[in-house]
Amino acid sequence: MEKIAVLGAGLMGASIAQVAAQAGYSVIVRDIQMSIVRDGIRTIEEELDRQINNDLLASSEKAIIMERIHGTIDLAELTQADLVIEAVVENMAVKKQLFTELDAICPKRTILATNTSSLSITEIASSTQRRDKVLGMHFVNPVPRLKLVELVKGIDTSNETIETAQDCVKQMGKKFVVVNRDSPGFIMNRILVSYINEAITMVGEGVASAEDIDAALKIGAGMHQGPLELADEMGLDILYAALLVFYNEFRDPKYRPHTYFTNLVRAGYYGRKSGKGFYDYSGAMKPEK
Ligand code: NAI
Repeated sequence: MEKIAVLGAGLMGASIAQVAAQAGYSVIVRDIQMSIVRDGIRTIEEELDRQINNDLLASSEKAIIMERIHGTIDLAELTQADLVIEAVVENMAVKKQLFTELDAICPKRTILATNTSSLSITEIASSTQRRDKVLGMHFVNPVPRLKLVELVKGIDTSNETIETAQDCVKQMGKKFVVVNRDSPGFIMNRILVSYINEAITMVGEGVASAEDIDAALKIGAGMHQGPLELADEMGLDILYAALLVFYNEFRDPKYRPHTYFTNLVRAGYYGRKSGKGFYDYSGAMKPEK
């Protein structure tokens, strides 16, 4: 495998393109507007500068890495890729449409991967004639810093496809886990979202304060961050949406959000990004326990 195409130059697409280029792959990044492609490429440059400033990358490497990245808005350019990693908006209709188009233009050998965090790989694959060559490659944000990639099998994904993806992930300096059954949240998010939901439910029930719940997990269980601090960082709106996906898909009340959680989201208290969640980020220091 030599050439990787990344669909979407947003938060995830740009950083996946970056780690692929740093691993030596020639990379094509495609988004719907050239200005978005340019923004994505600029964020890659900024991240490489950060690595140089932190002595993680030799400054002479930057130009070599950037030269491997080519931005485009033309889907037809993706036909040269051995692997396409899709990282566009989290919308099933958009992804299925793209996979149908990719299936029509890419050579039969091309593997099509999606970085979706909550949608069904099997359903995305169903929009192609190469279901055995479609898989989930779920990178974790921030991609340059977190090493995990979940490789997710759809119902028809072949072992050969998973093996090829494993080699690629290793080349990128990442660690993989294989998710044998296409199931919402894969491994990591299913556990994380359930864990955070339990903590939020406990605040809602008045069992303990957010500060004390976080302190209990940090001091007593060795977590480097409490569940409610983590919730504020991940965004309560994102967590809530993920929880509802689990609730609807599994039809299991254990994934039911507490009314308190619903009200926080309705109030716009999303956490760090909105300035307020379980903690206040409007200039005040977070409580330390
Ligand atoms: P984002 O909103 O930052 O980027 C999405 C990009 O897709 C935008 O630049 C948009 O212009 C582009 N786009 C939309 N339609 C397109 C099309 N037809 N062709 C090419 N580009 C198109 O979103 P983000 O956060 O990068 O998420 C992308 C995917 O990665 C989603 O499936 C998301 O679930 C998944 N993901 C997100 C994580 C996160 O922490 N943000 C973590 C892991 C996975």
